[in-house]
Amino acid sequence: MDHLQIIVDEIAEEMALAVERGKVADYIPNLAAVSPAHFGMAIVSVDGSVHVAGDAEQAFSVQSITKVFGLTMALGAVGDALWSRVGREPSGSAFNSIVQLETEKGIPRNPFINAGAIVVSDILLARYEPREAIAEFLRFMRALAGDDTIVIDDHVARGEEQTGFRNAALASYMRAFGNVRHPIEKTLGIYFHQCALAMNCRQLALAGRFLMCGGRNPETGRSVVSPQRARRILALMLTCGHYDGSGEFAYRVGLPGKSGVGGGILSIAPGIASIAVWSPGLNERGNSHLGTLALERLVQRTGWSVFEPVSPDSGRAGRKIGSHFVD
Ligand code: DON
Repeated sequence: MDHLQIIVDEIAEEMALAVERGKVADYIPNLAAVSPAHFGMAIVSVDGSVHVAGDAEQAFSVQSITKVFGLTMALGAVGDALWSRVGREPSGSAFNSIVQLETEKGIPRNPFINAGAIVVSDILLARYEPREAIAEFLRFMRALAGDDTIVIDDHVARGEEQTGFRNAALASYMRAFGNVRHPIEKTLGIYFHQCALAMNCRQLALAGRFLMCGGRNPETGRSVVSPQRARRILALMLTCGHYDGSGEFAYRVGLPGKSGVGGGILSIAPGIASIAVWSPGLNERGNSHLGTLALERLVQRTGWSVFEPVSPDSGRAGRKIGSHFVD
């Protein structure tokens, strides 16, 4: 068996034995019904090989991880003009916090907190009617993963709508500042359906490939974003991808990552691998407890942290992985 598969299997076994598993999100009924016993992991390497373990083939609610892909689409639509409506600084606040919006005049700190993702949804609406925008988003995800079976879970989307009072408050408040430009029901409709995307770890890691490969989908050879934009999205994932837990995630894992309240994390080792983990129990910051631990152990065993020293002539692609090298 190859070395990376041994590592992935070991981590899945360790996570299966974990006693402390975090707390499953309960503010949306469908999320509350998921067992904390799950753990899945998938790694897609730059050579195209895929290593999976545990519940890697079981679909879960992708939730805020979709904010990475929504941002990618919106940047494709309006380019850097997006940054006049959304900042690029860590918030240091909870994902659904409203406190900074008043002093910062309705401009969210970054595109990965709820307020920022709602503005991104509003930007997508400028091009499409709500139904088309949702269909376009789903098409984008299917194309990135190379998998037409991916769907949006309408029950989860309805649950988001029925419980999304804080999101409605954020959208309404930003509309007062002119930073949400469409009726809030329409903008939130995009946001809620985007969050309700269902994918498994394998599909999610495949969808993240363009970020490990300088913006290019390695399977089709097509450019999704420019290399510069891919680097910048990764920078935002590192600094803002785990809300007020972003510093802790960078400290423990040392890779760009984006979490979702469904318990998933997409993490990218640039030039090496796209990694998806899923375990529904969350820590006190709303990020997957075992997902973070699994990534921490993966990086300890592979040396994939972006802060790992590399010799100037070998570059990241010549990095040592456990006992062997990735080329
Ligand atoms: O906005 C919400 O409430 C969710 N549907 C998405 C939040 C989310 O995933 C936050 N992440 N940890």
